[in-house]
Amino acid sequence: MTILLTSFSEAESEICTIRNIVFGEEQNVPPEVDWDGKDEKCLHALVLGEKGEVVATGRLAPEGKIGRLAVLRTHRRRGAGTGMLRALVEAARGWGLGQVFLHAQTQALGFYEQEGFRVRGESFHEAGIEHYYMYRHLGDNGDRA
Ligand SMILES: CC(C)(COP(=O)(O)OP(=O)(O)OC[C@H]1O[C@@H](n2cnc3c(N)ncnc32)[C@H](O)[C@@H]1OP(=O)(O)O)[C@@H](O)C(=O)NCCC(=O)NCCS
Repeated sequence: MTILLTSFSEAESEICTIRNIVFGEEQNVPPEVDWDGKDEKCLHALVLGEKGEVVATGRLAPEGKIGRLAVLRTHRRRGAGTGMLRALVEAARGWGLGQVFLHAQTQALGFYEQEGFRVRGESFHEAGIEHYYMYRHLGDNGDRA
């Protein structure tokens, strides 16, 4: 598994392909919600499969918000999501941020919890899907508290 960090302009077509399949077709997220105009300002992660094809994508916004993690169904539960998440967390640490945060779909809470993210507050709805706010502190010693 290869993980790349890139810009939206470098990888727009691959990012669009994955997100349209996972969020658009699979989860019925309206395109105007997914394509929120913030991608140009984000750092993007791509995961490449065995043949060099893009199988997953995710992004990190300048303020430390991680989002749009999407792994093709055929490539799930093989570590792609965790690999991307770790790469984006390390990028945020490299930027000197003290914390990263995200809006987690309820079905994915366990995925983020095992990487040290904690829930804060009550659930809310986004794109018709139940979410929780989650955060992780980035201490100098890798603190996950
Ligand atoms: C959520 C998602 C990004 C996880 O990616 P992934 O590559 O399948 O995750 P990993 O293989 O790194 O999973 C590592 C561990 O996280 C946990 N995990 C993975 N997906 C999970 C889920 N949906 N719910 C709970 N735990 C999950 C498991 O413990 C898993 O380990 P295991 O396979 O040994 O049991 C992927 O399922 C996905 O793209 N889903 C559709 C889009 C989506 O829901 N995005 C997140 C929006 S907040």
